[in-house]
Amino acid sequence: MKRIVILISGRGSNMENLMRAERQGELGDARIVAVLSNRPDAKGLRSAADAGIHTLAFDHKQYPDRTSFDAALMTAIDAHQPDLVVLAGFMRILSEGFVRHYEGRLLNIHPSLLPAFPGLHTHQRALAEGVRLHGCSVHFVTSTLDHGPIILQAAVPVLDGDDEARLAARVLVEEHTIYPRAVRWFVEGRLTIQGLCVRVRGEPRENALHAPDLLR
Ligand code: GRF
Repeated sequence: MKRIVILISGRGSNMENLMRAERQGELGDARIVAVLSNRPDAKGLRSAADAGIHTLAFDHKQYPDRTSFDAALMTAIDAHQPDLVVLAGFMRILSEGFVRHYEGRLLNIHPSLLPAFPGLHTHQRALAEGVRLHGCSVHFVTSTLDHGPIILQAAVPVLDGDDEARLAARVLVEEHTIYPRAVRWFVEGRLTIQGLCVRVRGEPRENALHAPDLLR
């Protein structure tokens, strides 16, 4: 059984969706053992606690620098002996030491088709740039922000009349589809990293792209 620790900073819809997926057996042989946040007021902490999952909040403002915050966070994570650490809307830049410590077992979801639009306000930027295609990516984390071997992406069209909220909602539906799938592939031990590319054993390459709205 693989042990999963999830890190959040806010709403926690991806975390809630992963909890649902775990309950329904969609993550394979895995258990979410803890949910940690850098914000004590993160909404998702409540739903995790209500589901009986161990929760813990660290207020990053209480730490003098990034290194000491990350060290405290690592100690708390490691107490749960995770096989996988999942960033689900965790809005902190992580130090190199942190990323190295969890290398190969640290996943993130980002609301764009990476490498386009790393960083914040991805939907707004996609609209401003006039792209026709947008989406989300699940990737292994490296010490470069929103960068690393991509496991799975979902693409959605940008439609006439879209505003940030509509586009974000369309992307979020796909986030909730691809994150459990990528976690399951990890749990099943099917992912191999080759440079910046990820191979998924036993899965046709096209299954690493989810694009239902584009196939009409
Ligand atoms: C998601 O859009 C995720 O891709 C990004 O932050 C947002 C978190 O949303 N990293 P939620 O907290 O999972 O609802």
